[in-house]
Amino acid sequence: MLQLHDLKFKPFISSEKIDEVVTRMAIQIANDLGDEVPVFVGILNGSFMFVSDFVKKYPKPCEVTFIKLASYEGVKSTEDIQRLIGLTQDLSGRTVVILEDIIDSGNTLYEVHRIFKNEKVKKLIIATLFYKPEAYKKDFKLHYVGLEIPNKFIVGYGLDYDGLGRDLPEVYQLKTDIEMTNIVLFGPPGAGKGTQAEFLKKKYNLVHISTGDVFRYNIKNKTDLGNLAKSYMDKGELVPDEVTIDMLAAEVEKNSDANGFIFDGFPRTNAQAKALDKLMVSKDSQINAMVALEVDDEVLVGRLLERGKTSGRADDADESIIKNRIKEYYSKTAILKDYYSVQDKYYGVDGVGSIDEITIRLSEVLDKL
Ligand code: IMP
Ligand code: MG
Repeated sequence: MLQLHDLKFKPFISSEKIDEVVTRMAIQIANDLGDEVPVFVGILNGSFMFVSDFVKKYPKPCEVTFIKLASYEGVKSTEDIQRLIGLTQDLSGRTVVILEDIIDSGNTLYEVHRIFKNEKVKKLIIATLFYKPEAYKKDFKLHYVGLEIPNKFIVGYGLDYDGLGRDLPEVYQLKTDIEMTNIVLFGPPGAGKGTQAEFLKKKYNLVHISTGDVFRYNIKNKTDLGNLAKSYMDKGELVPDEVTIDMLAAEVEKNSDANGFIFDGFPRTNAQAKALDKLMVSKDSQINAMVALEVDDEVLVGRLLERGKTSGRADDADESIIKNRIKEYYSKTAILKDYYSVQDKYYGVDGVGSIDEITIRLSEVLDKL
């Protein structure tokens, strides 16, 4: 992650990839131009790095020069009115190749064509390293395009954000996604996780992803992943983490406009926690917190026995079974408590009290994130 001024950027195009693209462009243009000795014209400032690398890779004789776009002085308008400066060389009869770092709206290109209209050049060729087709509003032909990119702001390799970033050898893309709040919710059986998840979901507009529900949904609806999961279960084997993570990824994808997610029942192991981190990074996001409801064993046993009287769940009726479930919970989640504690993301919340009291405690944690 990269921070320039007030904005965050994420790695987008590696220097290796840029190198590959620049080489390809140089070879292709050299082949197409045959014996012609072209004049490469870079548009400053952004193109300095591209032009420098490009001409080093250009396998034949060539000339290199630069021109610059400057805003008209004294004009204060949101519509940038600009002109080109620095074109002093006589280019009549020459094959001119404009080297642009990026073509966005095409306004710069419009200026370039306007200026070169009077230059009597033999041929005006446009080559750009990056091109944003969704932003381009002109009809000028782009003879060579290195890479088409989405209509998002980028920096690096000559391109800047308010002066910064030109020096970077690779390209970064603006992180535009709204900041999500993603929590992993934990609590021993009887801690009131379900009740509180309902509340958090509503108050913070989060999507509650209960792994058990996701499993049942996929299997019941015979989705590809559901069938795959079932094939392992039928053999009495554990469903591999990748399958589970793919199911969760599909849920996250389905709710891409959510403010965040409450993960419930996942992760259970270090490997799963890592896989979940990876999934969130791929969504330009992260797990912000592991929130665990902490309740004394005695209280839990009491609550579950109480619930057993009406729920009819056999595992809520027997004290030793209940104690075992609680023990198992602690032995399994201890690893995860460590995993998130190291990252300063573990929040234990006192789960003893009225529903409202616990809700307030949870809100205090989420409001801080
Ligand atoms: P145009 O809209 O095609 O005229 O591009 C105008 C200029 O805006 C380019 O030459 C760049 O200097 C700058 N520009 C456009 N898109 C980006 C970007 O994503 N990052 C940094 N500069 C950009
Ligand atoms: Mg430029």
